[in-house]
Amino acid sequence: MNCNAWLANIVVSLKNSTQHVTTLPRNIFGRRKGRPLKKERREALEELLPKFEIAKKKLTEDHSCLPDNLFHTPYSSYWLEIGFGQGEHVIALSERNTETGYLGAEPFINGMAVFLKNTKDRNTDNVRVLMDDGMIIARSLGNASLDGIYILNPDPWHKKRHHKRRIINRENLDIFAKILKPGGQLVMTTDVENLAKWMCTYTGNHPDFIWQAGTIEDCLTPPENWIPTRYEQKGAKGSKKMIYLIYKRK
Ligand SMILES: C[S@@+](CC[C@H](N)C(=O)[O-])C[C@H]1O[C@@H](n2cnc3c(N)ncnc32)[C@H](O)[C@@H]1O
Repeated sequence: MNCNAWLANIVVSLKNSTQHVTTLPRNIFGRRKGRPLKKERREALEELLPKFEIAKKKLTEDHSCLPDNLFHTPYSSYWLEIGFGQGEHVIALSERNTETGYLGAEPFINGMAVFLKNTKDRNTDNVRVLMDDGMIIARSLGNASLDGIYILNPDPWHKKRHHKRRIINRENLDIFAKILKPGGQLVMTTDVENLAKWMCTYTGNHPDFIWQAGTIEDCLTPPENWIPTRYEQKGAKGSKKMIYLIYKRK
């Protein structure tokens, strides 16, 4: 089945869906460390992580944390990116939107080190990060405190017995619904059809989210002014098509 036919099927199956969505556990399942870090990256990690990392004591996982308290100055809006890889997307956004505060989570040390190295000579101070599970930030933030959440190319966990590791599940969607403002966006991408279907099913079945796609073409076209991630640029060389799934908090 081609991608368009597959997406058309999803739209129909979502409308008729009675699938029971179960509560699933969450955690970090991927690797946290890769090759030994080169000197420059190691130094960036040592010098800059303390400057940019959110203090763990502020992350009490009881929805009492206001994003204003995580930055030196308050911003007019706040977004969270979970699993930012090497951080090119969040860096580009933070430079483009200097009135917005960005929170990012990436447990993979090598990715965090590249992000910090690339942040070194920049003047913007509107990003704060956590080198850990992004759900720790999500469970800490107060109700309706975010304007949007990015989950771009999350680990697909292809094997069926690993599907419960996927970051999109009912429990995490409940948390995202809690911390997003009404009208706030949940932006997800993937080039893995099975994962796209999974994300559509869980998010489409959630009572607090509305899919923004009017047509199938909307899911296959990057939103205006889109900043492609590293994974997306690597994947785009192959035959697979990226799928853009944008939902709004009711
Ligand atoms: C396939 S990579 C995509 C990276 C980046 N978003 C991109 O598109 O280039 C998935 C990333 O999610 C991170 N990740 C996995 N579980 C996570 C979690 N619970 N919290 C935050 N990041 C997570 C992984 O370490 C990995 O860097």
